Amino acid sequence: MKHTSHPQLPVSDWYENAFDLTRGIAAYTASPLIAGIARVIAKHPDADIANAFNHKQVACKLWARDTLLKAAGKSYERIVVLGGWYGILPAMLLEDYRFEIAMAESYDIDPSVETVAHTLNAAFAERFRAVTADMYAIDYQGLGADLIVNTSCEHIADLRGWLDMIPKGTRVLLQSNDYFSEPTHINCVETIEAFADQAKLATLDFAGALPTKKYTRFMLIGKV
Ligand SMILES: C[S@@+](CC[C@H](N)C(=O)[O-])C[C@H]1O[C@@H](n2cnc3c(N)ncnc32)[C@H](O)[C@@H]1O
Repeated sequence: MKHTSHPQLPVSDWYENAFDLTRGIAAYTASPLIAGIARVIAKHPDADIANAFNHKQVACKLWARDTLLKAAGKSYERIVVLGGWYGILPAMLLEDYRFEIAMAESYDIDPSVETVAHTLNAAFAERFRAVTADMYAIDYQGLGADLIVNTSCEHIADLRGWLDMIPKGTRVLLQSNDYFSEPTHINCVETIEAFADQAKLATLDFAGALPTKKYTRFMLIGKV
């Protein structure tokens, strides 16, 4: 068969190609998350899923997942991910057989991401929920979460003030970075020590840095 290149391939064909490819990768890897991404491509063509699941996003979430397992164990009743976007981190945690997770929830202020997160996590419907909510307006006392994840601490002006809203003794996983040149990053840190000093967690399971090409990402796991 003769192969031709398609420099002018219509966008609609690219969606179909991406859909077919992700469905094939889902079948090959037996990953419900990848199957979810295929469903998102088909049902929500406007979703920025390629950006949300690019290799850099995946790398920092794999770092979070593997470190969480090592540093804080495998069992969680209720994980709450804030600014959770399309719910990729909950999906990564829910499909990982090393964990025992009763419920994982994704909270985001953007109402348009809720249905996309449900489509992505359809395989985990009984253990996943997406909620449209402002992280500053959540009743953390009534939430009953045993792990709260916030991987966008560089966007929080008063990190310690926000942590004070969370019940004492709750485990948190926090990420920030030193990507000062991005204008929406209002609270970057230079070092992991500076990040730990900002958060002032009562106990610390993990503190570390992951250098990437453009910036360094920092992570703290511990209890407030
Ligand atoms: C671009 S995402 C990336 C970070 C995401 N935690 C991740 O690691 O994939 C940041 C998300 O935070 C959400 N967000 C911003 N401010 C928020 C707030 N006050 N409460 C809840 N979500 C918020 C945005 O809508 C967006 O979906």
